[in-house]
Amino acid sequence: MLEQSMKSFFMFLSQNKAMNHAAKKWGLKFGASQVVAGQTIDNAILKVKELNEKGLTCTVDHLGEFVESKEEAMESTEYCIKSIETIAESKVDCNLSLKMTQLGLDISYEFCLENMRRILNSANKHNIFVRIDMEDYAHCQQTLDMLAELRKEYNNVGTVIQAYLHRAEKDIEDLNGVPLRLVKGAYKESPEVAYQDKNKIDENYFRIIKQHLTNGSYTAIASHDHTIIEKVKKFVKENNIPKDLFEFQMLYGFRTNLQLQLVQEGYIVRVYVPFGKDWFGYFMRRMAERPQNVAFAVRGLTSK
Ligand code: FDA
Repeated sequence: MLEQSMKSFFMFLSQNKAMNHAAKKWGLKFGASQVVAGQTIDNAILKVKELNEKGLTCTVDHLGEFVESKEEAMESTEYCIKSIETIAESKVDCNLSLKMTQLGLDISYEFCLENMRRILNSANKHNIFVRIDMEDYAHCQQTLDMLAELRKEYNNVGTVIQAYLHRAEKDIEDLNGVPLRLVKGAYKESPEVAYQDKNKIDENYFRIIKQHLTNGSYTAIASHDHTIIEKVKKFVKENNIPKDLFEFQMLYGFRTNLQLQLVQEGYIVRVYVPFGKDWFGYFMRRMAERPQNVAFAVRGLTSK
């Protein structure tokens, strides 16, 4: 009950525009620097280098919430291109993750599509893969439509499927051959479209992981859940699925020992490295997922 209230509270904060705007001026506060890799791409690349040295591959994400004008969306697009160029120049083992709303999906589908094309042209030139993060259900169909359109022109782009959605299994079927990141799902959705029961979500999660792997499609299993990870390890072994057909993904600053253990066992592990001034919404969503993460904030407040 208390956990549910805390989840709702952090989710409310993550969507609070005034707090998000104010936080941009504060710099990384409340321990956020443990899970956000600085405010600029150069800060993030330093962290990526450290992670690469430990055998971890990475994806960087320039954080951004509430993009409401074309100017803001163009700025985000430019920053994505700059990030791609910086990845290429610094020769790190890293790709890019981004969100459609940051590129203007709520302003105009066509405008967002053009911004995506510009980013993918740059990524193509440098042989860098771009992952479209999946946002809330309201943006799901548009994101998949845009992916389908982009995949006709580019093969260095993929997206994310959320296991809590009833539609996940059908989407996986339609996306056979597309590199996908599979997650449980991070947003609050209604029972009409999403499972609410944790066990049901976990069951569906493992079901879609098996489905995409069995199709022979590249699969990123993005989870901190050791039970799921152990099940995947067993499944791939029993079904002779090669280790280069899938990867595990975890967020920067979470379960770092487990990340390294998987690397030592010979698995590909990619760390999702978020950076940027707009850190508040991301940080609050992580709190909502696992209120125990409040420990980050407490440590952040008590340390200098
Ligand atoms: P979950 O939170 O369900 O935890 C299961 C169990 O794992 C816990 O009970 C605990 O035992 C253990 N555990 C979890 N975290 C732990 C920790 N920090 N320390 C110790 N034990 C821990 N979502 C989305 O909607 N769209 C997206 O694009 C993405 N992208 C994305 C990328 C990456 C790389 C990751 C890792 C996650 C996402 N997500 C996402 C978020 C995802 O949907 C989901 O909300 C979170 O990963 C939380 O679910 P988990 O599967 O990690 O475990």
